[in-house]
Amino acid sequence: MYPHDHPTSFHWQALDDLPCNPARNPPLPAPPDPLRRDLLKGGIGVALLGFFGGSISACAGTGSAEPVQGLLGFTGIEPQTDAAFDRVAIAPGYQARAFFSWGDPVLPGAPVWQPDAADDWQAQLQQAGDNHDGMHYFPFPDAPGEHGLLVINHEFVSATLHPHGMSRVDGKRPLSEVKKEQAAHGVSVIEIRKDTAGHWQRVPASRFNRRLSALTPMAIGGPLAGHDLMKTASDPEGRTVLGTIANCAMGFTPWGTYLVCEENWHQYFVNRDVADHARRVSHQRYGISAAGGSRVYGWETADPRFDATPQAGQPFGGHVQEPHRFGWVVEFDPFDPACVPVKRTALGRFCREGASVAQGSDGRLAVYSGDDTKGEYIYKFVPAGSYNPNDPAANRNLLDSGTLYAAQFKAGGEGEWKALVLGQNGLVPANGFSSQEEILLNARAAADQAGATPMDRPEWVAVHPQTREVYVTCTNNDERGSTNPVDAANPRPHNLHGQILRWREAGADPAATRFQWDIFLLAGESAGAKDAEGKPVADHQVGNIRGDIFSSPDSLAFDAAGRLWIATDYDDKAVQNRNMGCNQLLCADPVAGEVRRFLVGPRGCEITGITWTPDYRAMWINVQHPGLSFPASDGKSRPRSTTVLITKNDGGVIGT
Ligand code: FEO
Ligand code: CA
Ligand code: CA
Repeated sequence: MYPHDHPTSFHWQALDDLPCNPARNPPLPAPPDPLRRDLLKGGIGVALLGFFGGSISACAGTGSAEPVQGLLGFTGIEPQTDAAFDRVAIAPGYQARAFFSWGDPVLPGAPVWQPDAADDWQAQLQQAGDNHDGMHYFPFPDAPGEHGLLVINHEFVSATLHPHGMSRVDGKRPLSEVKKEQAAHGVSVIEIRKDTAGHWQRVPASRFNRRLSALTPMAIGGPLAGHDLMKTASDPEGRTVLGTIANCAMGFTPWGTYLVCEENWHQYFVNRDVADHARRVSHQRYGISAAGGSRVYGWETADPRFDATPQAGQPFGGHVQEPHRFGWVVEFDPFDPACVPVKRTALGRFCREGASVAQGSDGRLAVYSGDDTKGEYIYKFVPAGSYNPNDPAANRNLLDSGTLYAAQFKAGGEGEWKALVLGQNGLVPANGFSSQEEILLNARAAADQAGATPMDRPEWVAVHPQTREVYVTCTNNDERGSTNPVDAANPRPHNLHGQILRWREAGADPAATRFQWDIFLLAGESAGAKDAEGKPVADHQVGNIRGDIFSSPDSLAFDAAGRLWIATDYDDKAVQNRNMGCNQLLCADPVAGEVRRFLVGPRGCEITGITWTPDYRAMWINVQHPGLSFPASDGKSRPRSTTVLITKNDGGVIGT
């Protein structure tokens, strides 16, 4: 069965013939070579000069009339500002097809999703979870462009998970609903391959197909494995956690493992002991609810593991330390369906968006992450060891020891990585840090002490495949200028549209402790624009995008040719975003500074999760929560988060 033929009420579908405006986006000359040898032939130094040779204003938004010789070989499309838009629009010459939706079978024999099916948490455990987010394609070595494993995060659940929404009885969530919600979190692993007709198909009976959920046993690795701070009434050894939640973005390693990241895990817990909450940094600094119930779902009313109120007389205070066991990177090998995922505590605990790995010429590594909360930090973990492609056993636990840093962006373009290490940067007992384990557990507080720069909600990090320059999306921060002062890296007050920053490590060495940075672009409106209600947009809403405008960049990934793909996540109902229309996928040429709109999603969605085959002829993105806040026109449909397959009609490389 071709995946997009499954029974569904999924009421949006792919189009590839939407009108575009060729006058606004004239076709560019084809790039001289997909790998831009003209840029790279002089080696890394030449390429770096190309990126940082000019001032910030030379990077984007210059309005230059010079013809652009760039990487972008497709014709951009218009935004979709119609409130009823419920499809995917894509650049001419491309196709976008629904490939893998919430509820589709994952495990062999799993039930097929039915729009009117009653809640069944055991069925959900075998099917695709909800709210697809970060993902990665892992190729099989014998046919990398035709056969692989697609690994997909399921970040959270929507009310449409249940036929009649989420319910409460006498203030409590029904256990059957909670278990289904827990089963719909986590990760799907699906084997996929091209059939004899050249169409990508899921392999339903694959032994690799797997679901991780909020119920899957996982090991704790690294410095906090077995530590007193990880012990609970349910796990007095402090070594085994049930599940992973809030799995937003991700990473992948050179040794073939997937890195699941735990972002908004704090929203699932409550500590009703207000005095305890106020002094417990590991709760308070992360925004765990201090009264009433948890911020979402109310799982604690059905599953005591999520009630982190200290329980006198219970071993280890009951579940007060359960929140210590979330906020980590979880590593597993998708090619080993029996492996136990491991929470790698050496990388620190925060609300981690993703984990992007950079590799130096000598095998030294860096793992970059944003903490996507207003005024939080960008982190880097440098493993103590180096990656050795000839020694798989030595790579297996590389993420269990190393140094965690937080970024400090100084005015003038210099930056410093502040080590979060006991005895350094004020991390001493007098300031409340008496062990390295406490520093890792309370990484936010450690970064406060070390003088890291509070950022405008840092989300995905992408590393340029040739230069190793690092780009990060700072999605927005309406509290900039109030909670945190405006600074060079976060330059706009009441920042509604976000920015993309980039930096270059000293010597292009991932392990360096100094870097140079600049702002690649400020997202937002064009100068002189009027908003959807005809009012002039305020200065702080004006960006400097050269090309198609957008707001709130979130997902970010480079292809091998150095095209920078950007996916957005904003409220497409809000007046300040209406000119941008629905959320979208864009492509930027980092050298020319041009941005072009490639795909637009249905109203109410977020576009996320960018991945490709190694030949870049098949691409997958995720359409998360289509229709959110926009009731279906028939009042019954349950729009489904969906992985979308993108191909070029002539079979060519995406973006050319
Ligand atoms: Fe789940 Fe920061 O996006
Ligand atoms: Ca995100
Ligand atoms: Ca986001």
